[in-house]
Amino acid sequence: MSDVTMIGLGAMGTALAETLLARGLAVTVWNRSADKSRALIAKGATAAVSAASAVNASELVLVSVLDYPAVKNVLESAQDALAGRTIVNLTNGTPAQVREMAAWVEKSGGKYLDGGVMVTPELVGGPDAFVFYSGAKAVYKQHEAVLALLGKPIYVGEKFALAAIYDLALLSSMFGMFAGYIQAAALLRSEAIAVTEVTPMIMSLLNAMIELFPQTAQEIDSGVYPQPSSNNTMMAAGLKNIIEASREQGVQDDLIQPIWTLFQRASVAGLGNKDISALPSLLVVNQHDK
Ligand SMILES: NC(=O)c1ccc[n+]([C@@H]2O[C@H](COP(=O)([O-])OP(=O)(O)OC[C@H]3O[C@@H](n4cnc5c(N)ncnc54)[C@H](OP(=O)(O)O)[C@@H]3O)[C@@H](O)[C@H]2O)c1
Repeated sequence: MSDVTMIGLGAMGTALAETLLARGLAVTVWNRSADKSRALIAKGATAAVSAASAVNASELVLVSVLDYPAVKNVLESAQDALAGRTIVNLTNGTPAQVREMAAWVEKSGGKYLDGGVMVTPELVGGPDAFVFYSGAKAVYKQHEAVLALLGKPIYVGEKFALAAIYDLALLSSMFGMFAGYIQAAALLRSEAIAVTEVTPMIMSLLNAMIELFPQTAQEIDSGVYPQPSSNNTMMAAGLKNIIEASREQGVQDDLIQPIWTLFQRASVAGLGNKDISALPSLLVVNQHDK
């Protein structure tokens, strides 16, 4: 038996397996394309000939593949081996996909934890790495010491889908920031301004804005929105200018349109004199408690 099995040897699975090998664990690996296991074998991993034999090799089985259809593809071929195994699925997915997968693994006799790795592969195992986990606490506790080798483990609760929601919320913040930066870069390049010259100033502004998030978060959670210094009507006017300037400069405005629409909705809803803390309430259609 190995200590851990790693299924999926893309950029992330390889980094996870390498980290565990470097910490002296016996690791069995499997990937759809067998060639990706070669470098890991050279570092001491054992390659399984099939997903089923990979699951057979360890009580703890980590999975990191592209998406849930891929997870299903792999685990269905190993279904007979799942009894008594703990599957820790680190593949990015939606809450509904997680619930369905957890139910299927449990029906097949296995235990299930869901996880979300919140760093890029090169940072796995380092001081900045953290990973969300959800599922039965007793199962998590049983494997916490091994999981902690990958990055700081953050257990977020018994409901299987919680790690995915935390993971996607963080990614959502990141992609929103990317959208703004891409628009900024396009606007700058439309006037042949070096993005390298302006990026330190963008970073300075974003760092200052991020400092306000804890206060914003308190207002969102409480639903009490105090008088702001930067109100939504003023910000909507600024967004309109970004859209018009983009058009004047020959830059597409599709990335910025939705956030302008949201600020306009705020005014219609009587929230023009509040700030961004009032806006998430406009997006929540219904609250889930599954
Ligand atoms: N890379 C990152 O920065 C990062 C950060 C955090 C989380 N993640 C998450 O980690 C997971 C893996 O990402 P990655 O960066 O490792 O992706 P990747 O480098 O593109 O690797 C994809 C992996 O999925 C496998 N795969 C794809 N379709 C499959 C199928 N139908 N059946 C079986 N295996 C299949 C590939 O196998 P083959 O080699 O045979 O193609 C490969 O092992 C994703 O859910 C991603 O969201 C990634």
